[in-house]
Amino acid sequence: MTPASLDAADDLARFRDEFVVDDPRLIYLDGNSLGRLPRRSIVRVAGLVEAEWGGRLVRGWGEGWMAAPRRVGAKLARLLGVETDEVLVADSTSVNLFKLAVAALRARPERRTVVTDDLSFPSDLYVVQGALDLLGGGRQLRVVPSPDGLTVPTDALAAAVDPDTALVALCHAAFKSSFVYDLAAVTDAARRAGAWTLWDVSHSVGAMPLALGAARADLAVGCSYKYLNGGPGAPAFLYVRRELQARLVSPIWGWLGHATPFEFAPTYTPARGIDRFLAGTPPVLSMAALEPAVDLVLEAGLDRIRAKSIRQTEYLIERWEAELAALGFALRSPRDPARRGSHVSLGHPEGWRINRSLIEEMRVLGDFREPDNLRLGIAPLYTTYSEIHEAVARIGRVVRDRLYEKYPVERSAIT
Ligand SMILES: Cc1ncc(COP(=O)(O)O)c(C=O)c1O
Repeated sequence: MTPASLDAADDLARFRDEFVVDDPRLIYLDGNSLGRLPRRSIVRVAGLVEAEWGGRLVRGWGEGWMAAPRRVGAKLARLLGVETDEVLVADSTSVNLFKLAVAALRARPERRTVVTDDLSFPSDLYVVQGALDLLGGGRQLRVVPSPDGLTVPTDALAAAVDPDTALVALCHAAFKSSFVYDLAAVTDAARRAGAWTLWDVSHSVGAMPLALGAARADLAVGCSYKYLNGGPGAPAFLYVRRELQARLVSPIWGWLGHATPFEFAPTYTPARGIDRFLAGTPPVLSMAALEPAVDLVLEAGLDRIRAKSIRQTEYLIERWEAELAALGFALRSPRDPARRGSHVSLGHPEGWRINRSLIEEMRVLGDFREPDNLRLGIAPLYTTYSEIHEAVARIGRVVRDRLYEKYPVERSAIT
């Protein structure tokens, strides 16, 4: 089938019009890093600024602003496959990870090990290292190495979990290779050893259905600026299984996590449920941008989003095989769609300079991850088959015509 006929048959095609597509010649393949701007978010933010901030002033706190972490959290709960009182929107992913890791480690001091892998987003590793450093007491990190740099077998992880393991802290989808864990199987293996799981779902939320509740996952965090299209620096979320909420105390004793914040008591008493994981004032403008963006994902439906994501990553891999493999590109993502997220990484010794050329002269915006990966993100709500086809053609041209040779090999500060 031609890319145009695939687009014509696409049941999610209408959602592209929900987003600002400023330059139709620009092929945007970085929605796995920063999603496009939803038109509804413009309307919602503008409305909030004028009518609510401008008109309602401080009354806005009682008219929806203070409730936003729980209200938007309840919508996210549907994407995570959990209950509405188990999710909050707050802070950044890094901060939420810290809050949950410290709370979990403190709750069971007799278990001293955190198991993770070397595919995790480095910030997650740093945050967990920082939590272990803070708590001390002989606690340590056990990093399960990926045998191929792309995947980690469930068996290898399960073998690393023992009665000393407090937490298994993993990224559900790997930021570089796109490898996706079997969340239920890993959670089950951890539980059998008495360990809790802490999942970072930043690279899978909004791109595939998640069933954290059915898997009985314990804890999770994630960001909302990738496939959820919440905007640059959009607030993150956290999930705590209901049965654990009373046992865990956030290390940040902020007033909004207090049982009765507006009594302004001088000592801290944590709120009863998930609210105890709030810290300070919610970022109301960012929440306003995020909420309609989440509504769009709910409207489209995660089953349809995942089905299209798989079709499009398969299509990209087919195009790689036909056009790019012979030009020195290696597939650096799993072949099995069940184990692959919504981006595809292609390795090439000149990956950095090829990406420079794609950005500077080819109007293809993906990104680059060391040492040599072009990371191409599929965002099913707005990525078209024609874009994928054309992007592959442009990548091929950059290599065949050696266009990349005029760019320096030195990396820039932000990649
Ligand atoms: C998987 C993952 N975890 C954590 C982070 C860090 O999130 P933040 O900078 O919002 O704290 C990122 C950022 O891209 C990420 O991809």
